[in-house]
Amino acid sequence: MKATIDGVEIAYRDEGTGQPVIFLHAFPLNQRMWHEQSEALKPKFRVITLDLRGFGESRSHQSGYSLEDMASDVRGLMRHLSIERAVLIGLSMGGYISMAFYRRYPEAVRALVLSDTRTVADTEEGRAKRFQSAQKAEREGSAAIARDMTAVLLGPTSLKERPNIAARVTRIAESNPPSGIAAAQRAMAGRPDSTSLMAQARVPVLLICGSEDTLSPPSEMETMQKNIPKATLKIIERAGHLSNLEQPDRFNEILLEFLTNLA
Ligand code: MLT
Repeated sequence: MKATIDGVEIAYRDEGTGQPVIFLHAFPLNQRMWHEQSEALKPKFRVITLDLRGFGESRSHQSGYSLEDMASDVRGLMRHLSIERAVLIGLSMGGYISMAFYRRYPEAVRALVLSDTRTVADTEEGRAKRFQSAQKAEREGSAAIARDMTAVLLGPTSLKERPNIAARVTRIAESNPPSGIAAAQRAMAGRPDSTSLMAQARVPVLLICGSEDTLSPPSEMETMQKNIPKATLKIIERAGHLSNLEQPDRFNEILLEFLTNLA
């Protein structure tokens, strides 16, 4: 399905009934990364997945935009679907966008699930790397970024034992347009620090982290947990940064427990 939100074409899926839950994907992937979660949750919940602008089948007429703009697409999609409040589930970049959404539309958030992500902004060095990666995407195409990212995103267990996951991640990343990859890198470089926002969070927060995640490691997510009132942290063993893809059964079990207790 597609909806045009303020001139941006957003591709999405809307399945099941009940409490709405909206999944926001990681960089440089798209909504296909949530297939297992969508299957597990849709018998009990209304599950919405979407391609963030510039990814998958979603397109933007602008080349420069912020994570706030991407959060506002999500709000627009909720209006389009007549959803007042939802649980947002964001992994990594999806987590940054969930926090941007919560900053701007707190009344529309029932709860937050922040997986393999961080509240802090980038360092100068981190920003410089993103600008380089954006240029590389524009110069060499999405396959170059897919190659760079797959080995970093997945943990050693998945890389060693489950080559089909690496192939799937690469395939998804390669299918995204280079312009969207570049724009998202620049948007992430410009994101503000959300540490004080989350220290005042008034909604239930579940944090999930792969034990082998080197991009947002368990130690960083433990610090995040201490900073957020009433946040729960679950560590998933034998998973790297893409914990939902690497250990889908455990990830789904944790999600279902959290969402069932909310209802
Ligand atoms: C992601 O998985 O979304 C990225 O690793 C986020 C980032 O580059 O900070």
